[in-house]
Amino acid sequence: MKRILITGAGGQIGSELVTSLRKRYGADAVLATDIRPLSNAVCDSGPTAILDAQDQDAVAQTTVEHGTDTIFHLAAILSAVGETNPGLAYKINMGTLHSVLEVARLKKCSVFTPSSIAVFGPATPKENTPQNTVMRPTTMYGVTKVAGELLCDYYHKKYGVDTRGVRYPGLISYGTPPGGGTTDWAVDIFAQAVRKNSYSCFLKEGTTLPMMYMPDAIEASIQLMEADPAKLVHRNAFNVTAMHLNPQTLAKEIKKHIPTFKIEYEVDQNLESIAQSWPRTIDDSAARLEWGWSPKYDLADMTEEIITELSRST
Ligand code: NAD
Ligand code: SER
Repeated sequence: MKRILITGAGGQIGSELVTSLRKRYGADAVLATDIRPLSNAVCDSGPTAILDAQDQDAVAQTTVEHGTDTIFHLAAILSAVGETNPGLAYKINMGTLHSVLEVARLKKCSVFTPSSIAVFGPATPKENTPQNTVMRPTTMYGVTKVAGELLCDYYHKKYGVDTRGVRYPGLISYGTPPGGGTTDWAVDIFAQAVRKNSYSCFLKEGTTLPMMYMPDAIEASIQLMEADPAKLVHRNAFNVTAMHLNPQTLAKEIKKHIPTFKIEYEVDQNLESIAQSWPRTIDDSAARLEWGWSPKYDLADMTEEIITELSRST
C-alpha cells in the first residue's frame, strides 16, 4: 500500500481509518472521499474529494489522478436504515461495490471491503459461529453483504484482483456518530451516559451480539491489507471479534465509572428481530491463524477509555 483511496470516508469507520492510514503512510498518500462533505478534521489533515462511489467513471478518474494502488471501500447503507429502505440498500451497497471492483480490475488496485456479522441468519449456529457455515440472512443489508463477499471472491478468482475483507462485528466508538445500524445502541449508550446519566435502549437487556472497539477494527483492516497474501485462505470475509455484549453487561460496566447511570428499555421490535437473527458469539480462529489477528481492548479497557475521552470533551 502506497497510494490509498477511501470511499465513504466520512462515516463511523472512515473518519478514524483516515487518521490511522495518514499517520502510517503519510498525509498526502491517503485520499478521503465521500458523497457528502467531509469533516474539517479530515479535510485539514490531507487530500479529500466528493465522490459518489456508484459513478464508475468518477471512481476511475479519481483513482488514476491520485495514483491509487489500494482502495478501502467503506461506502454503504447499514442494517437499520437498510430495512427502512431496502431498495436503496441494494442499489448503494451493490452499485458502489461493483463500480469499485471494476475500477480495481482495470487499474490494478487492491481492495478492502468490510463485510459484517449480518451475513448470518436465523439458521446459522448462534454460539461460536464458525468461519464457514450457513449464510441465509433475513435483512437486505445481510443479503448485500453475502453477495459482496461472493463478488469479491469472484473478482479475485476470475481477474486476480487482490480483494480482502473482514466480517466486522458491531463497532463501538465515540468520535463520529454511527450511520444507522442495529448495533448503534452500544455507541449511543456512552454518549448519553456521559451527557444525561441515562439511556433508553432499543434492544432487550439480554440481547447479546459480537462487538469490537474501533481502534481494534482499524488495526484489523490495516493488518489484513498488509498481510502476506500467500497465507490468506479466507481472503474475503474473515470472522473477527473482541467481546460479546448485551445492554445489561455494558450498563453494568458503565456504572463502575458513573454509579448513578440508569438504563431503561423501549424495545424496537424491528431492530430486536434483526439482532436476534445474528450470532451471539463468533469464532475468529481463521483470522488469528492466517494473519495474526488479536484484539487489544477488552470491555473494561474500552469503557474506561471512552468515558474518559467523552468526559473530557463534554
Ligand atoms: P457509515 O454509515 O457511518 O458511513 C458510510 C459512509 O458512506 C457515509 O459517510 C456515507 O455518506 C457514505 N456513502 C453512502 N453512499 C455513498 C456513495 N454512493 N458514494 C460514496 N459514499 C457514500 O458506515 P460505517 O459504520 O463507517 O461502515 C463502513 C463499512 O463497514 C460498511 O460497509 C458497513 O457495512 C461496514 N460495517 C460497519 C459496522 C459498524 O458497526 N459500523 C459493522 C460491520 C460492517
Ligand atoms: N453494525 C452493523 C449494523 O448494525 C453490522 O454490520 O448494521
